[in-house]
Amino acid sequence: MKGIVLAGGLGTRLYPCTRVTNKHLLPVYNKPMIYYPIEALVKLGITEIMVVTGGNYAGDFLKLLGSGKEFGLKHIHYTYQEKEGGIAEALGLCEHFCSGDSMVVFLGDNIIQGNVKKGYSRFLEKGARGAMIFLKEVEDCQRFGVPEFDNAGKLLRIVEKPQNPPSKYAVTGIYMYDSSVFDYIKKCVPSGRGELEITDVNNFYIQAGLMDYEILDGWWTDAGTFDSLLRASQLVQLTGANNDH
Ligand code: G1P
Repeated sequence: MKGIVLAGGLGTRLYPCTRVTNKHLLPVYNKPMIYYPIEALVKLGITEIMVVTGGNYAGDFLKLLGSGKEFGLKHIHYTYQEKEGGIAEALGLCEHFCSGDSMVVFLGDNIIQGNVKKGYSRFLEKGARGAMIFLKEVEDCQRFGVPEFDNAGKLLRIVEKPQNPPSKYAVTGIYMYDSSVFDYIKKCVPSGRGELEITDVNNFYIQAGLMDYEILDGWWTDAGTFDSLLRASQLVQLTGANNDH
């Protein structure tokens, strides 16, 4: 199993702070943001981790994370996304790294109170085939990918940033995929915001009948806006992150 943290982007919603650093290096309470997803992967027992970065301050990741010793790792892999091509494009850069293995992917600004061990076990029970997403009930669905269900609770599709959300859940930035994700990424076309959308990739898995989901226990937040960054710090101060249940 491989672990991937997607930490590219210009972080324009956090200007002017992100004019002089990468969003994922900003502090969330007492640690740089990117520590949380790396710790979450390490807690799952994943030892081979790739950090995909981009933008102007990529060298600072190496300075901060080095070989990954602080996390108990022997090595951290790094790669660089040259343009703002979206989450799916960033993940596509990891095909060689994954070399046929399945993967757990965290968006670098997603932080959780608990862990994803339950969903991970279910994914492993299925031979780590297909895909698994993690959902959380939120008040501001319009900011996220939102799942649509039928009356029996079957996942029908995901709508990215809908004006009229079809449910009260957000698709969090935590994903588990088998290596066919790279074939699906190649089928993606740029969206209205000019990016390859991870929601399109997830919808390919749903159409193929290979997508599973789990509702996340504990709080979840992203940290890509000033409000969510502040909220993330307050939540981590209150309970800590990546806790065992
Ligand atoms: C991305 C995904 C969205 C997901 C969100 C989670 O949004 O496109 O589906 O709900 O991450 O943080 P973005 O942060 O790129 O706007």
